[in-house]
Amino acid sequence: MNLFNVYPLFDVEPVKGKGCQIFDKNGTAYLDMYSGHGVISVGHSHPIYISKLSAQIQNLTFYSNSVQNPLQKEFATKLGLVSGCDDYELFLCNSGAEANENALKLASFQTNKKKVIAFQKGFHGRTSAAVNVTDNPKIKAPLNLGFPVELLPFNDIVAVEKALLKGDAAAVIIEAVQGIGGINLATKEFLTQVQFLCQKHGAVLILDEVQAGYGRTGKFFTFQHSDIQPDLITMAKGMGNGFPIGGVLIHPKFEATYGLLGHTFGGNHLACTAGIAVLEIMESEKLMDNSTKIGAYLLEELSKISEIKEVRGKGLMIGIELDFAIKRLRNMLLYDEKIFTGSSSNPNVLRLLPPLCLSQNEANLFLKKFKKQLAIITTKL
Ligand SMILES: Cc1ncc(COP(=O)(O)O)c(C=O)c1O
Repeated sequence: MNLFNVYPLFDVEPVKGKGCQIFDKNGTAYLDMYSGHGVISVGHSHPIYISKLSAQIQNLTFYSNSVQNPLQKEFATKLGLVSGCDDYELFLCNSGAEANENALKLASFQTNKKKVIAFQKGFHGRTSAAVNVTDNPKIKAPLNLGFPVELLPFNDIVAVEKALLKGDAAAVIIEAVQGIGGINLATKEFLTQVQFLCQKHGAVLILDEVQAGYGRTGKFFTFQHSDIQPDLITMAKGMGNGFPIGGVLIHPKFEATYGLLGHTFGGNHLACTAGIAVLEIMESEKLMDNSTKIGAYLLEELSKISEIKEVRGKGLMIGIELDFAIKRLRNMLLYDEKIFTGSSSNPNVLRLLPPLCLSQNEANLFLKKFKKQLAIITTKL
């Protein structure tokens, strides 16, 4: 049987990982500046992660959500403490899109409305409702267009006020730093005003922290660089360091009833074990501090490079905008320098999302190799 051919593939076959390095089938080492779409948070093959998951596999891998599972409570308690959001409640699922599906559904239940306000260049997933609030018409099938969406310019508070004044919005969904859109930062003022307007007009504020959350920008959630308190917070990617897990943090003003949300796999024993291991490592290795420190260093050094049009970001979520398409440069970094980097929906923006344990030496190695390939490509332009 062939695989349904939806992914263009690089000619690399990783078989092993350690920290911020991955090794291909020939034993060649690569520096991972992208974490496989921002998923590897605490580093590849961390010994604590391996030992916790191995021990859990020996005992029990799965049972349904209709029995007691103390691992879910342990995970929720730890998540509340590490994130500083312990007054929220947790619903567990498997991915970012599912987290957003459930958040949008809760917002619609709560308000009995169905219009959603989202933002240009935003990305929220590829499933039913999540893709409808995503700014990419090419990935929406007719059945995804089942409810009205207003896609507004990012950081445009006048547009948000005008849309909310109509009184028909169930929710506003926003990334505090747009990832796939090319690392675009919402201003503190904008987020504060959006929250104020949501409260005024009875719309639910959903912060999509799937990519920017979980310590990547130096705070646990990116909205915590502002003073807002969202109604719903969605997360996935870094949560399980590669084990599929997603979740929604739900403000206590939402009332749970049996069957309102549900899942077969969400919050299973292995997923919770992976989630607990990630939080323990994040805390013990102070990875949020590392993200702040190494991220600031990279931003400073990158901003000195004259060939770069603009460098944007926070912590270890960085966009490098050039005045030409980055596709060739990205291939040169991968094949000639053995460095993984990411792209974005802006063809001129190279996206960096390394594991949060990236060291100063690894950052320097990246800078050296990046400058070398940038010099080669710009002299040939
Ligand atoms: C901000 C954001 N939200 C949601 C998603 C969807 O997550 P998943 O691919 O786990 O469904 C992504 C994926 O890149 C994302 O970046």
